Amino acid sequence: MDANNRYRKVDLLLKGKIYLQGRVEEACIGIEAGKIVMVCKEPNAPYAEKVFSYTGKKLILPGMVDMHVHMRDLGQEHKEDWYTGSMAALKGGVTTVVDMPNNIPFINTRESLLLKVEKAKEKSIVDYGFYLGFPASLNELSKSRDMIFGVKLYPNDLSNSENLVNLLQKCAELDLLLIVHPEDPTLLEECKKWASKIGVKLDPSLHPMLRAPVVEYFAVKNLLEIARRVHGARIHFTHVSTGESVKTILHSKLEGRKVSFDVTPHHAFLNSRLYAGRQANIAKVNPPLRPEEDRRIIYNALVNRQVDAYVTDHAPHRFEEKMAEKYEDIPPGFPGLEIALPLLLTEVFEGRADIRVIESYSLKPAEILGIAKGQLAVGFDGDITIVEYGVEETVKGEDFFSKAKYTPFEGYRLRARVVDVYLRGLKVLEEGNVIGRRGVGCFARRIER
Ligand code: NCD
Ligand code: ZN
Repeated sequence: MDANNRYRKVDLLLKGKIYLQGRVEEACIGIEAGKIVMVCKEPNAPYAEKVFSYTGKKLILPGMVDMHVHMRDLGQEHKEDWYTGSMAALKGGVTTVVDMPNNIPFINTRESLLLKVEKAKEKSIVDYGFYLGFPASLNELSKSRDMIFGVKLYPNDLSNSENLVNLLQKCAELDLLLIVHPEDPTLLEECKKWASKIGVKLDPSLHPMLRAPVVEYFAVKNLLEIARRVHGARIHFTHVSTGESVKTILHSKLEGRKVSFDVTPHHAFLNSRLYAGRQANIAKVNPPLRPEEDRRIIYNALVNRQVDAYVTDHAPHRFEEKMAEKYEDIPPGFPGLEIALPLLLTEVFEGRADIRVIESYSLKPAEILGIAKGQLAVGFDGDITIVEYGVEETVKGEDFFSKAKYTPFEGYRLRARVVDVYLRGLKVLEEGNVIGRRGVGCFARRIER
C-alpha cells in the first residue's frame, strides 16, 4: 500500500472494509479521473473532493464483470434494451457486461455491430463489450477487431470442422477469444428424432432429455480436438452444465491447453426438478438445468474456485412468450443480472464459500478479456460495488429493473444486497436507486498484450 499520499488530492475517496487481494481490510481507495490511484490505510489518506465512508455491515468490492449477457435491443427491444438491461446490471453490482451477437439482425459484420454499438453508447449505464457471431467472412474479424473480445460460436456453428479450423487460426492470429456454447448440433437432432420415434408429446419436463448431457460433452471433446490443430487458439466454454464436461476441461488445462470455462448461477444452484413444477416454463434454458449430481459438481467447481468465470447468461424474454402453450414455442432463457452476485455472496455469508469466490465474477473474467477492471488496485478502473451483508431479502421477479420480471429463483433468500455502485469513480447507483444517466457507460477497452 502506498504510504506517501497525505499531500495529494484526489477526486474521490472511499473508506471502509475493502476486498483487497484475497482478504478484507480496513482501508481507503483514492480515485482520480476514473482510475484507482491509491489504496492506503486511513492515516495516510489524501485530501479528496468527495469522501464516502462505509461503516457497519458494508463491504467494498470491485464492480463485477459479466462476460455473457443478452441486452437484446435493436429488433428485440420488447424483451430488453440497453437502458433496462444495464439498470439490472447495476442493481446486481455489475459494472461491465459483454453482449452476445444473437440479435435481430444477427451480428456477424462490422456494419451490423456498429448498429448495436450505437444503442449501447446512447443508453448503457455500465461499461460494455461485444462478441461477433460466426463472421460472414474472415475479413470481418480484422475489421471489427477494435470493438470485440472474440467470436461466439452457437451449436449450429460446430458442425463444419474445416471452417472451424480456419476461424480458430484467424482468431489466434488476432488474439481473439473463441467463446463456445457447447452443444453438438447432430446429437441435438438425434435427441429430437428419438422423441418423435417414441411419439411423446414434448413438454418442459423432457427438456433435459432433448438436450442430453452427452450433447454437451461431445461438443466439448470435439472442439478441444479441433483446437489441438491450431497453435495459440484460446477457447472458452460458456455455461458448462455437466460433470463430465467440467472434468474434461479441467484435464485439458492440466495438459497445458489455453482453455477456460464459466458456469451460471442457475446451473450451480438449481436442478432439473424445476421442470416438474410450476416454474417449468420459466426454467426452460439452454443448456437445461441438470439432475442434482451434475448440479452439485457445477456448484463445487464454483465454490472451490476451479471455474474461470461466473456468468449470468442474462437472457430476457417477455413473460407472455415464456408462457407459450407449446414446448417448442417457449423461448429458452431468463434474466439473471440482478441476483447473480447476491446469490454468490449468500454462499459466502452463510459460510459455505470463501470470499475469494467473487473473483470468478470480477478479476478472472477481466483477465480473460484483458481489461483493467475487476480489481481494487492502482491502475485499474474505479468500478466499485458496495454491498450490505447480514440482510434477509427475498428474490421477487416483479422488483427487477429488467423488462423480464420473473425468475426461477423466485422466493430464494439472499443474505446480501447491493447498495451503491461507482462506475469509473462516478456514483451510478445510490441506495439501490439508479442515479447514473443514460449513456454514461463506455467501451471496455483491451490492454494490448
Ligand atoms: C439464449 C437467448 O435467449 O438468447 N437462451 C438461452 O437459453 N441461453 C440463446 C441460447 O443460447 O440458446
Ligand atoms: Zn447466452
